Amino acid sequence: MRHCIYPGTFDPITSGHLDVLSRASRLFDKVTIAVADNLAKKPLFSAEERVAMIRPNVERFKNVALATFGGLLVDFAAEQKADAIIRGLRALSDFEFEFNMALMNRHLQPMIETIFVMPNEQFSYTSSSLVKQVARHGGQVGHFVPTNVAEALQNAFAK
Ligand code: COA
Repeated sequence: MRHCIYPGTFDPITSGHLDVLSRASRLFDKVTIAVADNLAKKPLFSAEERVAMIRPNVERFKNVALATFGGLLVDFAAEQKADAIIRGLRALSDFEFEFNMALMNRHLQPMIETIFVMPNEQFSYTSSSLVKQVARHGGQVGHFVPTNVAEALQNAFAK
């Protein structure tokens, strides 16, 4: 069984992330979405909130599981007996960061491959920070995130 990990901060998950996930779920027998307890990014939503926002949007994928992790991604991937890590490449600007991360992860855990997929070009300029910025100032984000995420953002910034 081919198993991959799709890691990210997902603060919050976007339609671009879901596009990557749908491609991963066709390529692998099992995909585990790994929500990072990434404190360096000072997330708007707690890890539990991020997982709760993701869950209803991934129920339609029968081979997708959901988990949180702290520490090194490769340690989590090895613990899960995953074969690969999947990441989305939206544009050339993603490349250098992703390339370095993939090589570092390969140094740490040579048996785990990183595989890149390109999300649909309509999401090439979507990012969680930009979506949060638009929502913070009352802009519409429905094109970029699922409905429950748009509502959560609205509530978060209404406080
Ligand atoms: N659609 C929309 N946005 C996307 C996207 C897509 N397909 N792919 C990436 N993004 C955006 C995200 O929204 C996010 O935007 P932001 O920076 O504005 O918040 C950005 O690209 C990257 O986010 P994401 O894909 O969630 O990854 P990340 O960089 O937040 O997460 C980890 C990186 C968690 C995988 C990495 O930090 C990690 O592995 N941490 C664990 C510690 C570790 O092992 N470190 C060593 C790594 S070598």
